[in-house]
Amino acid sequence: MNSDLNHHNHLDFITKELQEREKNNNIRQLNTICPQDAVTIIKNARSLINFSSNDYLGLSKHPSLILASQNYTQKYGTGATASRLVTGTYDIHEKLEQKLAKVCNKEASLLFNTGFQANTTLIPSLVDQKSLVLCDRLVHNSILQGIFLSKARWKRYQHNDLSHLDKLLKKAVLEGYNRILIVTETVFSMEGDCCDVDGLIQLSQQYNTLLYLDDAHAFGIMGEKGMGLTANKSGIDISLGTFGKAIGSFGAFITTSKLMRDYLINCCPGFIYTTALPPAVIGSIDAAIDLVPSLDQERTYLGEQINYVQNKLRDLGYQVCNSSSPIIPVIIGDEEKALDLSQYLEKNGILATAIRPPTVPKNTARIRFVLSSKHQPEHINYLIYLLKNYHDS
Ligand SMILES: Cc1ncc(COP(=O)(O)O)c(C=O)c1O
Repeated sequence: MNSDLNHHNHLDFITKELQEREKNNNIRQLNTICPQDAVTIIKNARSLINFSSNDYLGLSKHPSLILASQNYTQKYGTGATASRLVTGTYDIHEKLEQKLAKVCNKEASLLFNTGFQANTTLIPSLVDQKSLVLCDRLVHNSILQGIFLSKARWKRYQHNDLSHLDKLLKKAVLEGYNRILIVTETVFSMEGDCCDVDGLIQLSQQYNTLLYLDDAHAFGIMGEKGMGLTANKSGIDISLGTFGKAIGSFGAFITTSKLMRDYLINCCPGFIYTTALPPAVIGSIDAAIDLVPSLDQERTYLGEQINYVQNKLRDLGYQVCNSSSPIIPVIIGDEEKALDLSQYLEKNGILATAIRPPTVPKNTARIRFVLSSKHQPEHINYLIYLLKNYHDS
């Protein structure tokens, strides 16, 4: 018998892993907060300005989303009570899917319970052991998990480097795969920069591959009327949007073809074997989708603040990622130093979480500042004032 089984407590591996993380300053713990309004929260009985949430438009506190959520609950109850293929498809699910397809100018749409679930279950529905997946080097963990589950071979191209992707494709088409899938985020969750959607569509068509784009951080704030960077574009097999970020709610959806939708309803386990999204969630999403196209002014203001903050932080001497979204990462490098800056900000009334490996590559620990259209100039100027003091001290 294996000596490990004889001599060790069967939970030793857990203690060891946690001790290792403690030693490397990357132990994670849950911090309890209570939201106050769109940009302030209470933590340990203190009010803090939140610069870490993905609620880019402050919709999680919008009265029309709250009201729709209440109304849908009143009418349909608190739960969908079954999976979509059993008795969990209500008229509100179908109508929302039709609305999403229409606003994104796509043939069809399908709801998923979370973006994480969608990525982990969609990718294995598209590729198998005989396939190849080519993904950006910095894709989100949920995409990686989907690739691992698919058992496909996979390679990463350098971040946003389409000439590297082109090289990999040139080679791959000669290697006899049954399918090749290109997958990336449109807005990178930890970098805030964007991929070249048109360039990817062109390569996908040139090499006859599947193309899957995760538009989680763009939907609501980028593209025409905020409908994301993949709306109104043909040549993308699956675009994923999420509702837990700019939409201020919860869940995810894809836009796709009618054919692909029919296939996934039949062959995608993470769609089939799970309870449908609850009415309260559908209500808030529905209200948000009605509201978002009218928020051009908020998106313009947000864009101005993004430029302002990036320029100010660069002027102060911080290493700021080249972001074109409300995600403005400041690279600190060392994990302890990133924690120190986060703690300094918190002591002074600002919540800005440190992001450390393995979420980001080694030696690139960072503070991921996230802006919302609800941040007022005084919030932003206070953040810059603190960062100046910290840098000077
Ligand atoms: C790029 C990307 N895709 C997917 C997800 C997962 O979405 P959800 O929060 O709906 O599970 C996230 C969220 O962290 C993300 O950043």
